[in-house]
Amino acid sequence: MSGVLSIRLFSLFSCLIIIIIIFISKANSDSTGLVCGNTAVSRANSNYTKNLNTLLNTLTSNTKINYGFYYSSYGQNTDRVNAIGLCRGDIKPEKCRGCLEQVKDNLTRLCPHSKEATGWFHDETCMLRYSDSAIYGQLALLPMYYSVEEKNTTEVDKFQEVLINLLQNLKSQAAFGDSRRKYSVGSAVGPRNITIYGFVQCTPDLSEKDCDDCLFESISLLPICCVDKVGARVNRASCLLRYNTSIFYDPSTPALSPLPQEVPSSPAPLPQGT
Ligand SMILES: *[C@@H]1O[C@H](CO)[C@@H](O)[C@H](O)[C@H]1NC(C)=O
Ligand SMILES: *[C@@H]1O[C@H](CO)[C@@H](O)[C@H](O)[C@H]1NC(C)=O
Ligand SMILES: *[C@@H]1O[C@H](CO)[C@@H](O)[C@H](O)[C@H]1NC(C)=O
Ligand SMILES: *[C@@H]1O[C@H](CO)[C@@H](O)[C@H](O)[C@H]1NC(C)=O
Ligand SMILES: *[C@@H]1O[C@H](CO)[C@@H](O)[C@H](O)[C@H]1NC(C)=O
Repeated sequence: MSGVLSIRLFSLFSCLIIIIIIFISKANSDSTGLVCGNTAVSRANSNYTKNLNTLLNTLTSNTKINYGFYYSSYGQNTDRVNAIGLCRGDIKPEKCRGCLEQVKDNLTRLCPHSKEATGWFHDETCMLRYSDSAIYGQLALLPMYYSVEEKNTTEVDKFQEVLINLLQNLKSQAAFGDSRRKYSVGSAVGPRNITIYGFVQCTPDLSEKDCDDCLFESISLLPICCVDKVGARVNRASCLLRYNTSIFYDPSTPALSPLPQEVPSSPAPLPQGT
């Protein structure tokens, strides 16, 4: 059973680094990465906390959304909260909502004193993020965490060449996606005929260039952190990357219908908060 060899978390909220690592490593690699920001929030009944709870309880209420991306804001001035929920592109809408609804309490419970938090849950089925800063359409390379498989690759140079080439192609495809989904998966044959499966995704509110830049940073990290290993994942607030020699995604993700002109990419903000 190959476990996870190393994990690093990076956060750069307000120039300080406050990190809480909750890492659950199971045989099936149901790992959870979590980063709490260091902007303190007063507990219990503060307006911010109330707004946050309202926001998280309504984030997935638009059941027409079938592409796994939720964004909403709630509240006024310094008590305004922004949240993003993202599911891996192959996850079905009901499962996506279920994941986000299940983990919202975990995130607020595990980061009770933070105005912002980011978590990747259930093997990256879903990611949930909230902040008092504007986050929609903003490229955020941090927080970031990566983990790698223990098992080494053979013929590292050849493996690296095939892998990087695969991920670069996927990066361009994902970046080209529309404001609902920026996701791409695919495979390539590496040394000894071993198949390498790759996955990349950005939050779809990013521009094509920002998505490309985010994934570029993650791919650039691989030769440093990961490329001699048979599997790895690099998760950032704005983009996700993963590869493995076992398939881990559903290859039959249905395509979305074409966007009719300019469709609002997010649900209208809720009326008012305190
Ligand atoms: C969320 O919290 C519940 C209750 O503590 C726990 O059973 C569950 O595993 C947690 N889920 C995640 C994704 O962390
Ligand atoms: C992988 O390679 C590294 C360095 O080459 C070595 O230290 C490590 O023991 C190897 N791990 C396994 C599981 O073979
Ligand atoms: C890889 O697959 C090709 C085509 O199936 C085959 O001809 C070749 O012998 C295989 N190489 C190895 C190392 O298994
Ligand atoms: C690669 O796939 C194996 C088998 O599904 C899994 O146990 C492992 O955790 C995966 N590794 C990464 C880094 O995702
Ligand atoms: C919380 O919201 C209420 C209603 O808008 C407002 O009267 C009150 O001043 C707010 N409290 C703080 C601490 O901002």
